[in-house]
Amino acid sequence: MARDPTPNTLSPSPKPKLLVVEDDESLRTQMKWALAQEYEVFLAEDRRGALEVLNKEKPPVVTLDLGLPPHVDGTEEGFLALADMLQMVPIAKIIIITGQGEKDNALKAIGQGAYDFFCKPIQIEELKVVLGRAFHLSQLEMENRELQQRVSGETVDEMLGTSPKMQEVFAAIRKVATTEVPVLITGESGTGKELVAHAIHRQSSRKDFPFVVINCGAIPETLLESELFGHEKGSFTDAHIQRKGRFEAAQGGTLFLDEIGELSLPLQVKLLRFLQEQKIERVGGREEILINARVLAATNRDLKQAISDEKFREDLYYRLGVITIQLPPLREREQDVLVLATALLQRYSDENRKKIKGFTKEAIHAIEVHDWPGNIRELENRIKRAVIMAEGSKIAPEDLELVSGYKKYEKHGLKEAREALEREYIKRALVRNRWSITKAAEELGLTRPTLYELMERLGMEKKRDRE
Ligand SMILES: Nc1ncnc2c1ncn2[C@@H]1O[C@H](COP(=O)(O)OP(=O)(O)OP(=O)(O)O)[C@@H](O)[C@H]1O
Ligand SMILES: [Mg+2]
Repeated sequence: MARDPTPNTLSPSPKPKLLVVEDDESLRTQMKWALAQEYEVFLAEDRRGALEVLNKEKPPVVTLDLGLPPHVDGTEEGFLALADMLQMVPIAKIIIITGQGEKDNALKAIGQGAYDFFCKPIQIEELKVVLGRAFHLSQLEMENRELQQRVSGETVDEMLGTSPKMQEVFAAIRKVATTEVPVLITGESGTGKELVAHAIHRQSSRKDFPFVVINCGAIPETLLESELFGHEKGSFTDAHIQRKGRFEAAQGGTLFLDEIGELSLPLQVKLLRFLQEQKIERVGGREEILINARVLAATNRDLKQAISDEKFREDLYYRLGVITIQLPPLREREQDVLVLATALLQRYSDENRKKIKGFTKEAIHAIEVHDWPGNIRELENRIKRAVIMAEGSKIAPEDLELVSGYKKYEKHGLKEAREALEREYIKRALVRNRWSITKAAEELGLTRPTLYELMERLGMEKKRDRE
């Protein structure tokens, strides 16, 4: 087997990336020559080329000649390039290169966000000093960001939860936040999918840029395409003006596609194309627009089922779900229910300036035995209502509208009411015994198999059995 005669285990630290945007070919090569020793130099001769490199390589520093084709004698194209680049990577340090006597333009460019300017003819040694400063500043900014991220990494936003399942979710959020891959967030309604998406964004280096949310299920299909991708003037009857879509609004930041399972098949194709090439086209437009946005998606639908029903593309599913964060329903986070209830009670009684001391013993029990089909949103709503309704200093089950289950069945007949009571009775015993069926059976004076049988007949879940 051929072997490298000088195995190099320590790869040299990579050179910082620099993008030179210059339409004059000889100047371009000259600059590359002069700077290649210190920097990894990328070249572009026009706006489009510059954006391609910027999106792909993310060089922290760019030099930009304002006179770009097709208007090499004007500055129009250069200013457009400046605006596009800053929109795509707002932290890029862009150094304007201008001709003699064009100081006005240079100052205007700085007003629009350029970092510095430099007049032709280029003195390489002077340019190197300016570049050195720009890279240094960019490096400092980056370190500062990382530091801030690490400090805030101990807690995940305002998300609460001490259960092992939520701890896993928090760990996953922290891990994926620093990457660029798409994340699919799944879970029942009200489990906190949007909160997770927001937390990922806020923990990421994109946190100072837009977090754009779009609910694919809430917008009629005919409007959704232009909402997402934008449209050109005249592309359809009501398109009186050109309009940018949510993808463009998310430049530099994060795009959260909620209820992704509702996206139509043609739009799934367009989304897939974006995920593959980072490019979109407006409706009725021919120009490809490069977008630097991270995609997060959420669904409470079973996408695998949707794939077999041919309603969701499998290739898109694999692209989006490189990483999946699954949120457990509240009924599977026993430890969290009271933590959340207490925190929410505190929040809403402060908001309403009510002095509420806590929950009565019966209310605590009612909270523990309730199944929470609407998850945290249901808990929030019940507590909001309870804070307003409460007359005493403590919240009672009636305030939460969590009165004993069998009472609700009184009108349905004896059998239903009795079964509801039995269910509740057993569930309370299970909660008291931390879901140990053996211990609950003992307390109820039953054998373990009898309790099992009874639970089966009453249609009760056993998945939380901890034995
Ligand atoms: N871990 C948590 N700690 C505190 N509050 C939470 C937590 N998870 C969710 N919430 C709150 O519960 C409510 C519902 O959360 P969210 O809107 O993120 O759920 P969702 O899964 O997107 O629901 P849906 O499917 O109905 O859109 C929000 O008000 C949110 O702030
Ligand atoms: Mg939601």
